[in-house]
Amino acid sequence: MLRCGGGRRIIILSLLVAVLFIALISSLSTAARYATPHTNNSSTLLDEDEAYRARISAIRSTDTRPHSKTLGVADNVYLITLPQRTDRRERMDKIARALDITFTYFEGTDHHSERVAKIMDRVKWQRGRIDDRDAEPADWPEADTESHPEVIFDAYPFQWSSDVIVNQLNPLNNSLGIAGSDYWTLDPPDPVWEASHPLPSTKDKKMIMTTIGFNDAYKNVALTNAMIGCWDSHARLWRKIVENGDKVAIIFEDDIDMEFDIEKRILRMWPALPKDWDVVMLGHCWSAEYENQPLPGSIALRPMYHTLCTHAYAVSSTGVRRLIRHARSPDLAYSRPVDHVIKDLTLQRRLKTFSVYPQIVIQTKESISDVVGDRGIGWKEALLDSTLERIRMESGEIPIE
Ligand SMILES: *[C@@H]1O[C@H](CO)[C@@H](O)[C@H](O)[C@H]1NC(C)=O
Ligand SMILES: *[C@@H]1O[C@H](CO)[C@@H](O)[C@H](O)[C@H]1NC(C)=O
Ligand SMILES: *[C@@H]1O[C@H](CO)[C@@H](O)[C@H](O)[C@H]1NC(C)=O
Repeated sequence: MLRCGGGRRIIILSLLVAVLFIALISSLSTAARYATPHTNNSSTLLDEDEAYRARISAIRSTDTRPHSKTLGVADNVYLITLPQRTDRRERMDKIARALDITFTYFEGTDHHSERVAKIMDRVKWQRGRIDDRDAEPADWPEADTESHPEVIFDAYPFQWSSDVIVNQLNPLNNSLGIAGSDYWTLDPPDPVWEASHPLPSTKDKKMIMTTIGFNDAYKNVALTNAMIGCWDSHARLWRKIVENGDKVAIIFEDDIDMEFDIEKRILRMWPALPKDWDVVMLGHCWSAEYENQPLPGSIALRPMYHTLCTHAYAVSSTGVRRLIRHARSPDLAYSRPVDHVIKDLTLQRRLKTFSVYPQIVIQTKESISDVVGDRGIGWKEALLDSTLERIRMESGEIPIE
């Protein structure tokens, strides 16, 4: 399990004492060294971080304005990390320093965890329940002819929980409570629910599930623990965002690079969003966003056409609640990669999603193969003014252009 025990706490405490002691000693000696001569030259007051930011900004003169710590529009900028990827964490710390922003770190779900194994058992159990329902063609709902005609049929037999239906129009009216697949992962479990929803003891653990998607390319793809872990990381964070009362939150994964003037770009495009927006994809893959026209008021924003990847997106307070309620609706819960959920719900017009095009946050190259494998088809992968590139220039790793 991920929780730290008491033993670790003692080590942390003694480390803390040691660090404080060293800091005290070194500040005394620093004070002694710099006691004279006195100076009131303000540049000596710049702390190290500000100086670093100033050097990074000076590399190119696009953006030297003061920044907000949360990219101008968000109450929090969250970064989903996995504890074992300290390399990524270090790189993201550098990006935060270079941009002078604050990431609220959120520990993702380890896909080797007991929690993920439990969810997989429940997905198999739920899938059985879907398959048991004999839907006749006459039962099929009407296709939405304006959206992709196959959308609803590929997902059938299928039904939304009443929690989704009741709250779709007015997501802020009722509190979220506990519903649907929330029960699968309650800690401790709800004994009443468990007793009325027993898992069959004979379930074949080796049975391989496929994903369910509205996308032909994703039919008959095996549902993996990694997909469930990734879904669960985002879904747990969505709950955290509601708990924190964020009106707007930005979510990043830990393998990204972004435009250095990202805040300026976001501030410029944001007023063009309709009041009832749910999600804005700041970055995406397998997309073709040029197919839709830009919004009046911003050439950078378009209604989502088709996006995958979840490395960078913003959610509104209505959007995050719609995501939570749909994602925990048992027939949908953990049934496919989480990026497909945002796309599928948007194509079904259950979520109002916009895309930034060209994207302003990209996945770094090394991580792409981790997630989707090298499928040999690219998407626009370049930034105009990469933050990581500036970091490498500042450190002398690559020459300044
Ligand atoms: C500090 O600044 C003030 C006004 O700018 C100036 O009069 C004074 O001489 C400065 N003192 C030192 C130690 O530089
Ligand atoms: C302040 O320090 C900078 C850098 O050391 C120097 O170039 C500048 O002349 C100083 N200004 C004053 C008023 O002493
Ligand atoms: C808010 O929720 C309550 C309880 O579910 C319901 O009775 C009421 O009609 C809802 N109001 C709006 C404006 O949706």
